[in-house]
Amino acid sequence: MIQSALTAQGSCGLRGVAGLGRTGRSCYRGVAMKVLLIGSGAREHALAEALAASPRCDALYCAPGNPGIASVARCVPVEASNVEGLVELARSLGADLVVVGPEVPLVLGLVDRLVALDIAAFGPSAAAARLEGSKGFTKDLCARAGIPTAAYARFDDEADAMEHLRARGAPIVVKVDGLAAGKGVVVAGELDEAERAVRAAFAEPGAAVVLEDVMTGPELSLFAICDGARATLFGTAMDYKRVGDGDVGPNTGGMGAISPHPLASEALERDLMERFIEPTLAEMRAMGAPFRGVLYLGVMLTPEGPMLLEYNVRFGDPECQALLARFDGDLLALLDGAARGDLDERAVRWRDEASCCVVLAASGYPGKVRAGDVIEGLEDARASHPTVRALHAGTRLDGARLVTAGGRVLSLVATGADVAEASRRAKDAMGRVRVEGAHWRRDVGSIRG
Ligand code: GLY
Repeated sequence: MIQSALTAQGSCGLRGVAGLGRTGRSCYRGVAMKVLLIGSGAREHALAEALAASPRCDALYCAPGNPGIASVARCVPVEASNVEGLVELARSLGADLVVVGPEVPLVLGLVDRLVALDIAAFGPSAAAARLEGSKGFTKDLCARAGIPTAAYARFDDEADAMEHLRARGAPIVVKVDGLAAGKGVVVAGELDEAERAVRAAFAEPGAAVVLEDVMTGPELSLFAICDGARATLFGTAMDYKRVGDGDVGPNTGGMGAISPHPLASEALERDLMERFIEPTLAEMRAMGAPFRGVLYLGVMLTPEGPMLLEYNVRFGDPECQALLARFDGDLLALLDGAARGDLDERAVRWRDEASCCVVLAASGYPGKVRAGDVIEGLEDARASHPTVRALHAGTRLDGARLVTAGGRVLSLVATGADVAEASRRAKDAMGRVRVEGAHWRRDVGSIRG
């Protein structure tokens, strides 16, 4: 059933350095891999392009994918939250590696199911995905491992949380203890705002919250590829979370990103790897839940030093698009090694460039979005500079027309000698795209302190 649902619109094929193996499949030093990628955003489009570029990629499938991903992978209409369907798909394809993009299937245990069937998968087990799935789990881990983070308290009872709030006062941070698609954190300047956030959280059955002290300083994201025991740095990025220029308006999944982070230095990266990533891996191993996959560390650079804001257990979106625009290594070799517990750090190489990713959002985003608006000017945007890449997210083909089908519609990424040049190119390209009612941030690339 699943095989017949394949939309054969392309897949990675023979490469310059690849040779034909006995099976006739392309191979690299005897390795010819069939890869299944999970997800449908611009992050997965960037991952698909990088995986397809690996000399060891013989065939690339994506579930469910999108019209952009279909130019480099065969898209199969199985949703990313359908764990049973994905397991069945991986099995029927004979996938050598499954790369999981979004957090939901990770938290639902997709990797556990695949590994039980002896199918290698890049991404953490459900137990290890608690680093993103439960804020309280992560805060407790930080306390045990001595990882710097704001003082906090956890509550699974609304009345107790309210009592703590009133005793502690504002400002205070209210975090919903579960996946919340970027909407689970309220930095409340006033007590009544904090109370509203707690009340809203406990409107959901079985809810829990973390209340923590407010920190100040610039935010930085660092990515590490982990094989359960070891980790290798996979770059830094700064994202633009709020919907409007100048960082105003509601939080979104991300309206843009630049990489590397302008405040990143080798010393800071080393410090973050040694004092955050490595103790976290050690703690997870000690708990019997070794972390394999990409660990996304969000820190605030406070006057007292870097403090953990959050962990995510997948690549950031749109940070991934910015990171991969600079990546010059073999992503498939890297992710496959990590998934098998044999990290190959030599697979990580970077171009000496900066990158900028600008996100086009549909009318109404991040609220109720309108779908079906025609997307025009994409070819012109792509042609505006050789480094510009257009990565699809909420798009759909309506006959021959490309139309909007989600909140974040597209990412346009460009590279340059520095962030200023990269962002000029990305924004010049975005200026050529026309979608009724759509919006994007003109200040992506400006450095926030
Ligand atoms: N851009 C923020 C995230 O991916 O969580």
